[in-house]
Formats: sequence, structure tokens, C-alpha cells
Amino acid sequence: MVVNSHSVKTLTEFIIERQSDFKYSKGELTRLLSDISIAAKIVHREVNKAGLVDILGPAGTENIQGEVVQKLDNFANEQFIAALRAGGEVCAITSEENKEIINLALNGEEGGKYVVCMDPLDGSSNIDSNVSTGTIFAIYRRVSLSGEGKLEDMLQKGSQLVAAGYIIYGSSSMLVYTTGRGVNGFTLDPSIGEFCLSHPQMKIPKDGRIYSINQGYFVHFSDGVKKYIKYCQEEDETTNRPYSLRYIGSMVADIHRNMIKGGVFIYPTTSDSPSGKLRLLYECNPLAFIVEQAGGKASNGFERILDLQPEELHQRVPIFIGSTEMVEQAEAFMKQYSAETVS
Ligand code: AHG
Ligand code: MN
Ligand code: MN
Repeated sequence: MVVNSHSVKTLTEFIIERQSDFKYSKGELTRLLSDISIAAKIVHREVNKAGLVDILGPAGTENIQGEVVQKLDNFANEQFIAALRAGGEVCAITSEENKEIINLALNGEEGGKYVVCMDPLDGSSNIDSNVSTGTIFAIYRRVSLSGEGKLEDMLQKGSQLVAAGYIIYGSSSMLVYTTGRGVNGFTLDPSIGEFCLSHPQMKIPKDGRIYSINQGYFVHFSDGVKKYIKYCQEEDETTNRPYSLRYIGSMVADIHRNMIKGGVFIYPTTSDSPSGKLRLLYECNPLAFIVEQAGGKASNGFERILDLQPEELHQRVPIFIGSTEMVEQAEAFMKQYSAETVS
């Protein structure tokens, strides 16, 4: 089939068209999103040859070109940092892979207007078994005036997000993002090297019949979560139960599937992890913003994720995210059986 170039809208064309949505923008956000998409293509290329590791050499060794082969988390981290550094729109980054803030405004420079929080490779333990992985990013306008990015720039509530997105490296690679005016999804066409608009104005179904949780930890869950899981497993014709359980173990992939099919993804507190596992700044907030923009809901079981005040860079938070009706049903169980609040 010959693809008609006039029927395809690339991500670059789309973000330039949308620039006028931001009255006072001089194009920095447009460039920033475009920088992210370039790093995403490079990570896509590397993730797609991960199966060749025995030929190219395992992490830490030299490959046949004499280059040191890195772990893909580190590789992805470096690619995104390099793209954002080169772009100049960002003064600082918080990354899952770095304990401290990465400052990009050096030597007394004014620094870019934005900060980025990111999980450069989500679900990286799935790489070896050829299961989907992802990247998550959150973009805030800095609150400090100039120079180095500061902690206060990073510890903004999710409700202050300017833009957020994820990339899924799956059976095809997609970039999905929002700037607070709906969610749009772009699929990478490797033959032309462009993300093309494939899922305009994504809407998550209001209700669904997929629940997604690591049920292996059942004994470690609170009563509210246990009762909700039992509810999902009960037979009831009017609500179409029992529901299906799907758990990939890559949050991006589980949430992406639920965006398309409807469902709820839960990573609750456990007796081992009293704040849950997932990170507020670069996993939960950006995905909560996207899911809300698609018409869904995200909470910690009691309160809206986007209203939580972050206190530290790598803070963890329990999360219930997805189709509004399913999240609300789970919240009802939490309220009734797990009364203790978590924030
Ligand atoms: P990461 O690879 O960035 O550390 O994230 C993995 C996360 C998330 O993607 C996934 O949903 C969760 O860890 C799975 O955790 P369990 O193995 O505890 O279920
Ligand atoms: Mn992650
Ligand atoms: Mn990660």
C-alpha cells in the first residue's frame, strides 16, 4: 500500500498547529515536546534491538563496534537528558535514575522556563522477555525566577502540570500526550521515522471490566483492596462480573490498554511498602493528568492524585487510576474498609 502523505499528520505538524493554544508561548513548549519525541525515537530503536544482546554484548561489556553497552534504563536516561539539554527550554530535570535534581542551567545562565520529571524507562525488568516498556514525562513551568532549577520547581502539585505524556515501546511504539486540552496519540511509522496522529482525542471508557493489580501480593493488601478484588471476582450479570484480570507489570502498558479498553489499574499500599511503590512526580502525576484529560479518574484511594502536595523528589504514593466508575467503586471499598488516610 502506498501511504498518501496528505492523509498523515505528523507529531511535529500537530504540535506546531497547536502552538496558538498557548497565548504567551514563544514556541518553547513546542520545541520541548519535539526534543522529547526525538529522544523517544532513539530509545525505540535501542529497545527494538534488545533481543540482540547476546550478539551485541550484555550491559557493561564492549560491543563489536568497541562501544560500551549500557543498561537500557541508563541509555534512555542519557538520551532524554541530552535532548533536553540541547533544546535549552528546560532548567532542570528530576529522573527516576538520579537521586538529585539534574541542573541544566550552568555557570550563571538564566536557564529554560520549564522543568521536566521523568521515568526514562518504565517496566525495564520486562525488556529481557520482550514485553512492552515505556517512558513517562511531566512538564511544569518553573516557579523560581531564573538560574538553577530548585526543589520548589519540582515539588509542584500535579494540578499545575503544563503537559504530560508517555511513550509505549510495544508491538508498535506510540507517543501519547496532553497539554490540558484533551489527549492525542501518535504511532511511530518506522518506515518514515515519524510519529503520526493515529488516536485523536482519546477518551477512556467511563466503565470497564478489566482490573489490573499484582494480585500475588493479596495477603499484603489492606481490607479495602481485598474486598474490591473479591468484588471484581464475584458473578453478577447486571454489572458484567466477574471482570478480567490483566497485569503486564509495566505501568505504561497496563494504563495504555485501559485507556483503549476501559479498566482500573491499582498499585496500593502493602504491608511491605506502606506508601505503595510508584512515584508521585514522574509516574503517578503525569499518568493521572493524562487519564483525567481522557475523561477518567486517578486517586490514592481517598484523594485526587493531582491535588497531593509533593514533599520529596522520589516520593511514593498508592494509586487507583482508570475508568471513572471503576475507580469510584474501588474508592467506596477503601472508604468503608481501609479508613486510614495515606497522605
Ligand atoms: P520501573 O521499571 O520504572 O522501576 O517501574 C516498574 C513499575 C511499574 O511499571 C509496574 O507497574 C510496577 O513497577 C510493577 O511492580 P510489581 O512487580 O511490584 O508488581
Ligand atoms: Mn516506572
Ligand atoms: Mn524506570
